[in-house]
Amino acid sequence: MSDTYLQLDKLTLAYGDTVAVKDLDLSIRKGELVALLGPSGCGKTTTMRSIAGLLNPASGRITLDGADITRVSANKRNVGLVFQSYALFPHLTVYENVAFGLRLKGVSGQDLDSKVTAGIKSVGLASFAARKPGELSGGQQQRVALARSMVMEPKVLLLDEPLSNLDARLRLEMRAELQRVQKETGVTMIFVTHDQIEALALADRIVVMLNGGIEQIGTPEEIYNKPVSAFVADFVGFENVFALENGKLATSNSLVELSAPVPQAARGLAWRPRMVILGSGPFQGTVRGTSFAGNVREYLLDTPLGPIKAEVDAGEPSHAIGSALSFDLPLAAAAPLSRYR
Ligand SMILES: Nc1ncnc2c1ncn2[C@@H]1O[C@H](COP(=O)(O)OP(=O)(O)OP(=O)(O)O)[C@@H](O)[C@H]1O
Ligand SMILES: [Mg+2]
Repeated sequence: MSDTYLQLDKLTLAYGDTVAVKDLDLSIRKGELVALLGPSGCGKTTTMRSIAGLLNPASGRITLDGADITRVSANKRNVGLVFQSYALFPHLTVYENVAFGLRLKGVSGQDLDSKVTAGIKSVGLASFAARKPGELSGGQQQRVALARSMVMEPKVLLLDEPLSNLDARLRLEMRAELQRVQKETGVTMIFVTHDQIEALALADRIVVMLNGGIEQIGTPEEIYNKPVSAFVADFVGFENVFALENGKLATSNSLVELSAPVPQAARGLAWRPRMVILGSGPFQGTVRGTSFAGNVREYLLDTPLGPIKAEVDAGEPSHAIGSALSFDLPLAAAAPLSRYR
């Protein structure tokens, strides 16, 4: 990529003998908002720590804005880091919390005041400058932490699950706030989350990680609609995932032929529950469970293919537990997976 701003090259990160991240390659453009998404322990925080300079790579290279920063110390990288626990100084006002890092850098007087005031304003806290963290809501405190990092004008701002200790409503607000601040300032941002909805809502691109490596990189639309592996498919809600062998669906005890030829390169196929057609089709199943979820009803079927999850409009006639149903897995709707494992 020609306009790469931050590049990780074959980055391997270890704690002693434990390799946490292996041969990671990632290119990020200036001004991009990238989400790192993946299960607990997959290496998200470890990757962020290495970018911030808090963990020396075992091997590989990190370049930022044309310079090799692999061995540059954390305080010379101009990379901001906001953690889940944002650790504001409780005895300092919002203003002084935001001013703190700038003062350390030797910024003072009018210059300091205008930067701090602009930073506080950018996160919507202009009228809270004189308050202390204890007099703010969780979301407001999080915004102070964001402003405190932003005023340092970092080349890259790293946010490690910054929203995870906020309640659902505040999370939504902060999500919008983060996106706005990022678009207004154009700061390059890497954002770690467990939450796929959050990643889909916020990011320009999503990096899905698993076991210290990258499973897939793509836009939210690509990740959501075109997962490349069984793991990503399941992660974004394609709950019916099958391996393919010789163009047939591999179930636990047999190979099942589909009504149309499957894409040649596919190693697997995946269907969202709502893609399963209930009531007609070549397959037979028995309803093992059903649950009402507002505008849809979910079914779990026992079938010769294994358990199948289906979802239909709640307005459709319902099927009782134990009833036999035919169903179809329409090939046209399936996501073809280029890797099963
Ligand atoms: N200080 C450490 N010493 C040894 N192993 C560590 C250390 N920190 C992390 N690890 C291991 O490295 C791997 C990656 O951890 P990391 O913290 O990067 O995961 P994560 O993706 O951020 O997970 P989570 O979503 O739970 O925060 C895990 O297997 C973890 O146990
Ligand atoms: Mg983590």
